[in-house]
Amino acid sequence: MSNLQQEIQALKKSRNAVILAHTYQPSEVQDIADYVGDSYGLSVEANRTGADLIVFCGVQFMAETASILNPARKVILAEPDAGCPMADMIEADELRKLKSQYPDHLVMCYVNSTAEIKAESDVCCTSSNAVKIAGKLPEERGIIFVPDKHLGSFVQEKTGRKMVFWDGFCPIHQKINPDMINRARTDYPDAVLLIHPEAPAECRKLCDHVLSTGEMCSFVKTSDHNQYVIATEKGLLHTLKKQNPEKQFIALSDNLICPNMKKGSLLSVKKALEGSGGEVISVPADIAQRASFSLKNMLEMSR
Ligand code: 13P
Ligand code: SF4
Repeated sequence: MSNLQQEIQALKKSRNAVILAHTYQPSEVQDIADYVGDSYGLSVEANRTGADLIVFCGVQFMAETASILNPARKVILAEPDAGCPMADMIEADELRKLKSQYPDHLVMCYVNSTAEIKAESDVCCTSSNAVKIAGKLPEERGIIFVPDKHLGSFVQEKTGRKMVFWDGFCPIHQKINPDMINRARTDYPDAVLLIHPEAPAECRKLCDHVLSTGEMCSFVKTSDHNQYVIATEKGLLHTLKKQNPEKQFIALSDNLICPNMKKGSLLSVKKALEGSGGEVISVPADIAQRASFSLKNMLEMSR
């Protein structure tokens, strides 16, 4: 263990802290985290932890979610400038306008959204539970889905629900195109192709399975196949290799890298634990209270 890693372990103990990291974080950060997972797993961990301090290695909306779900804990986002461009593609005023146009619709927001958007929503979802939750909403009601049009179209394909989408997208998954998939099929004819639902529909339909990052991990663990092409952010390959050292993983493209997720580093984790860096998350009480309604509905409905 390096000196920096040792210092982080000691600080973590003395501050009774827990380190939560998304699977898109750099390998060194994943390796020192207490829990590494997808957006859903991270929200469950944040909700149940008894630690005094949560150091979040991910992006803004994830740390905000942790703080809203567990307001008694102090939450520090290790990299304060790590945002999610998709979450910033819709503002609360725009959602309010959409709601007034479709007053009989329920609002389902992807967790990749700001606290203000969650506060305006009936239920939140992640990519691993969106289909399940949409299927549980009253059939006679239409669904306004924000901000990810691709995850929204995936939910519609799977549930046949009447839905209205916002024109949001993840700039990283948006880079995936059918040529990349076709090339991977030619280069790796025996591989299983796994793709994230944030990718465009014309790419999803060319792959074998459409799975969230957490679902990809579970799928690979129990599958007999040896070789996989992974169509999502590259950080997940570290998680998959670590969990399945005997299997082979190929990134669909070396360009699928989220610059915000890659801001994370051991130094920023250390500074967050010391109290000399990172951002202490503080969501205004009225917004946090309304946003916790849609988040708790999500946790309830995904059981
Ligand atoms: P999941 O962790 O739910 O698969 O979402 C991926 C993502 O883009 C997070 O920003
Ligand atoms: Fe946002 Fe996409 Fe980065 Fe996830 S991978 S944080 S959705 S920009």
